[in-house]
Amino acid sequence: MASSSFLAVFVVVALLMVSIRSSNAQLTTNFYSSSCPNLFSTVKSVVQSAINKEARMGASLLRLFFHDCFVNGCDGSVLLDDTSSSTGEKTAIPNSGSLRGFEVIDQIKTAVEKACPGVVSCADVLTITARDSVVILGGPTWNVKLGRRDATTASLSAANNNIPPPTSSLSALITSFQNQGLSTTDMVALSGAHTIGQARCTSFRTRIYNESNIDASFSKTRQANCPSASNSGNNNLAPLDVQTPTSFDNDYYKNLVSQKGLLHSDQQLFSGGSTNALVQTYSTKPSQFNSDFVTAMINMGDIKPLTGSNGEIRKNCRKTN
Ligand code: HEM
Ligand SMILES: *[C@@H]1O[C@H](CO)[C@@H](O)[C@H](O)[C@H]1NC(C)=O
Repeated sequence: MASSSFLAVFVVVALLMVSIRSSNAQLTTNFYSSSCPNLFSTVKSVVQSAINKEARMGASLLRLFFHDCFVNGCDGSVLLDDTSSSTGEKTAIPNSGSLRGFEVIDQIKTAVEKACPGVVSCADVLTITARDSVVILGGPTWNVKLGRRDATTASLSAANNNIPPPTSSLSALITSFQNQGLSTTDMVALSGAHTIGQARCTSFRTRIYNESNIDASFSKTRQANCPSASNSGNNNLAPLDVQTPTSFDNDYYKNLVSQKGLLHSDQQLFSGGSTNALVQTYSTKPSQFNSDFVTAMINMGDIKPLTGSNGEIRKNCRKTN
């Protein structure tokens, strides 16, 4: 009796461990190869034309993937519009007036639905789109893992709690990524996404007026288009990478080494703490940055995917079926 119940517990624990592992193991690089053979070319051509129209769009699309994955996993929840009965994530503090690219995702989804109706999730569309954006702007390429399904719910509170603000300290950044199962190396490498795109004055005002670990001519340049008064110019934009804001390269780390990080959180990565050495390395070794960035993007894409019969394949990324 005692030994058979021991055996039963053992079997249950072993099965549990297998089922936890298989939630990620179900993502594969060839998931749609027979159900949607033209998926990659279909996505890429829409991303390419959106970036041709506006180079910044590549940055905006990459950021969408991050803001999706950090809120209960990469499940397309960030794309859901508010309805009369449920509030989505678009009005969360990190997203409101800032997150963009939703119309491009709609265009991609429409093209994908035309090619393969009801097959490809919005979560996977975001994953492929983020990769293509990096590649088109000159960054590294990789094979994306696919097979995610779409959430039927979103979480405003998780969006507010899980996406780190630009006021974060180094230890807060490390903890925030650790909470998602990502390492400090992943965090430093993924922050290199700030080699492209723009930030609003409200996101960096305190840094350019009140911080001392900042290059003096750089802060002066940024102050010219970002008034100190908190009621003016809040939406004025500045490039996250002062040198090449539409090229995916390692200039972000060179900026940090010369105290030209735009956000407080950026400069935290090179302010004498445990990540200084890695920033220094990435600033001189673009190939190491590229390879760590790819690893970290794959790790971020593995955050809590819905697979099997969980979730759904949304027809329209803005609403549940
Ligand atoms: C490490 C913690 C991070 C913080 C605190 C942070 C914060 C921010 C902030 C405040 C902005 C500007 C928003 C605005 O003013 O409208 C921004 C922009 C951006 N972020 Fe991050 N971010 C982080 C990590 C990431 C990651 C992991 C990625 C992607 C892998 C990413 C990609 C981007 C991109 C591409 C932009 C520019 C978007 C555009 O031009 O539309 N960020 N981020
Ligand atoms: C800078 O710090 C001072 C003193 O704490 C504060 O009064 C002021 O509002 C801050 N300015 C900005 C732009 O953050």
